[in-house]
Amino acid sequence: MLRVNAFTVSADGFGAGPDQDLEHPLGHGGEELHQWFVPTQTFQRNVLHRDGGTTGVDDDFAVRSFENLGAWIMGRNMFGPVRGPWPDAEWKGWWGANPPYHVPVFVLTHHSRPSLEMEGGTVFHFVTEGLEAALKQARAAAKGKDVRIGGGAATIRQYLKAGLIDEMHLAMSPVLLGRGEPLFEGIDLKALGYRMKEHVTTEKAMHLVIGR
Ligand SMILES: NC(=O)c1ccc[n+]([C@@H]2O[C@H](COP(=O)([O-])OP(=O)(O)OC[C@H]3O[C@@H](n4cnc5c(N)ncnc54)[C@H](OP(=O)(O)O)[C@@H]3O)[C@@H](O)[C@H]2O)c1
Repeated sequence: MLRVNAFTVSADGFGAGPDQDLEHPLGHGGEELHQWFVPTQTFQRNVLHRDGGTTGVDDDFAVRSFENLGAWIMGRNMFGPVRGPWPDAEWKGWWGANPPYHVPVFVLTHHSRPSLEMEGGTVFHFVTEGLEAALKQARAAAKGKDVRIGGGAATIRQYLKAGLIDEMHLAMSPVLLGRGEPLFEGIDLKALGYRMKEHVTTEKAMHLVIGR
């Protein structure tokens, strides 16, 4: 299955704020999006390597987001703030030496770069042959487990338009960003055959599971 999980959109449909840079990985204002996710036990443990954190519905969705994954796909803007040809191999992602993936991660880009092996089983592969090639490589690497598209919006939109995503968990956060990376621009989910399969609202997010 090709899945999106825990992708957070603002109430006005943006997956990140504008003008991403080193100090603003989610664009300006974008850090507000993840108020449902960051406090969870799953985020604290898997991403920050810390004990503690909240349990409950938000954490249940966070747990689900990491289950049965054999590979990830992401756009190069999710991987980092470097644009254009890679000046060197210095940038290794936002996540430190041991990123929270632990499986192969296929990064879509127009600029080739050697694969990057990190601690804990994460290997970043840079794919320049397009979305279908990335999916083919990810499926082979996943060995029967699911492939998760991490983001960002531009990457998810392409896979949606191509009809390749089976299920998408979105967390809609009660914040307005006004500008940024729009998830739904040019996307007619109904015409693509999607329907709402599940929804539950917590204090910090409306969780929507969209599938066929
Ligand atoms: N809200 C959330 O839950 C969430 C989750 C993940 C990420 N994010 C945020 O989303 C933002 C990034 O999203 P985004 O929409 O700007 O970009 P993105 O989807 O991460 O990356 C887009 C870039 O990837 C490359 N790319 C995409 N499709 C390609 C294809 N078919 N062939 C070759 N290269 C391709 C292109 O880079 P080049 O042409 O430059 O190589 C393109 O400019 C970041 O701020 C990130 O932190 C948010």
